[in-house]
Amino acid sequence: MRDKPEIVIVSAVRTPFSKFDTVMADIPSIDLGVMVMREVIERVGVGPGEVDDISYGSCVPAEVALELDVPARQATLLAGFPAENISVSLDRACCSSLTCVRLGIRAIKAGEAQIVMAAGAENMPRTPHLAPGLRKGERLGHIRLVDPLFELGYQAKGFNAVAKDAGEVALEYGVDRAMQDAWALGSQEKYARARAEGKFKIGEELMPVVIPQKRGEPVVIEADESPRKTSMEALAKLKPIYGSPTVTAGNAPTMSAGASAILMMPAATAEKRGLKPLASVVSIVASATAPRDIAAIPAFTIQKALADAGLTIDDMDLIEINEAFAAMPLVSTKILAEGDNQKWKALQDKTNVNGGAIAIGHPVGASAARITMTLAYELRRRGGGYGVAAICGGLAQGEAIVIRV
Ligand SMILES: CC(C)(COP(=O)(O)OP(=O)(O)OC[C@H]1O[C@@H](n2cnc3c(N)ncnc32)[C@H](O)[C@@H]1OP(=O)(O)O)[C@@H](O)C(=O)NCCC(=O)NCCS
Repeated sequence: MRDKPEIVIVSAVRTPFSKFDTVMADIPSIDLGVMVMREVIERVGVGPGEVDDISYGSCVPAEVALELDVPARQATLLAGFPAENISVSLDRACCSSLTCVRLGIRAIKAGEAQIVMAAGAENMPRTPHLAPGLRKGERLGHIRLVDPLFELGYQAKGFNAVAKDAGEVALEYGVDRAMQDAWALGSQEKYARARAEGKFKIGEELMPVVIPQKRGEPVVIEADESPRKTSMEALAKLKPIYGSPTVTAGNAPTMSAGASAILMMPAATAEKRGLKPLASVVSIVASATAPRDIAAIPAFTIQKALADAGLTIDDMDLIEINEAFAAMPLVSTKILAEGDNQKWKALQDKTNVNGGAIAIGHPVGASAARITMTLAYELRRRGGGYGVAAICGGLAQGEAIVIRV
């Protein structure tokens, strides 16, 4: 990955992430995707016809199915990209939008593309129930409706709910419920502080979502909807979900709608166009392990990305580990600390410094690009440095990116 050409992120944007019961939940994920795809190029004066390759992640196919399929192709056409544009829809669970970044980088390195876009969009609350068997008809008896969101796992094929695996493995690593609740409280507090300091404002990672109304002014959403005030006492009262020993509504993110997009090109192309890069991509890798180890896979993927970059975790000024649950950053930083408790604490202190998905929300297909841009913008505010962002995806897949600002 360290070989030439140097590839840079020149633009990165996302919508606010929604709560479950909210007006944003009525917007198809494809339309959210259209918004970020337009904005990410407009901000840097790149024309739709100049983007050679678009990868688009989404991983709740039941919601996309309301508009049929090929969300990437539909979104690119609706966003005004030329009919000749090459795009692909992909699903690598919550890793998807970083997988898109990785494929875009690969396309540049292969000489197949100059300017590439990675996008991700999801609308989890809009996911319909499924009625299997209805096409053939039910001769007798009740019609069964399946909720593809329920217990977020792969139980139909014999796998566990993600929350069950994550909670059990966290306990094996010595990360108990109280630690997970404390992390969740910290996530909410760090996010609240960051917002009060003017971070997460429109124009950096955020763009507004404007929803026209039949009558009157449009509804404009400019901020993430799920952050909330809480306390250790309130968190401790919540019951675990989906058979997990530790995961609750308080130390898990809500199910959100949202979209994100990242635009990349060789550093030399950015320079020629007079664009100031947001970050340089140092390495990006994928990994996978046994499904049960979902809370540990961000650590394993970070180790792989750092080895590829020729760097160590101590070289990282900031870390982002997606809070699929609080268990993920806690277990993963513990693995990265290699048994040194002081180092574990130090790694926690530089992880998700502005809060994470527990506060911000987690529209699964869009989150991997979100953590990447959150990391890049914060490194820029701090005057630069190295950072690594990692995310887990269903059945213990991982994706990690090392960037330099
Ligand atoms: C956890 C989950 C089931 C909660 O769904 P929900 O019931 O619609 O969520 P709510 O926001 O209504 O929260 C449930 C309750 O917890 C309370 N609660 C939630 N967060 C809280 C917090 N931080 N502090 C205190 N109370 C909190 C709510 O007030 C609510 O209480 P009530 O029932 O008395 O009204 C759902 O958000 C979920 O499945 N999230 C995980 C998604 C996921 O797995 N993502 C990762 C994929 S890899």
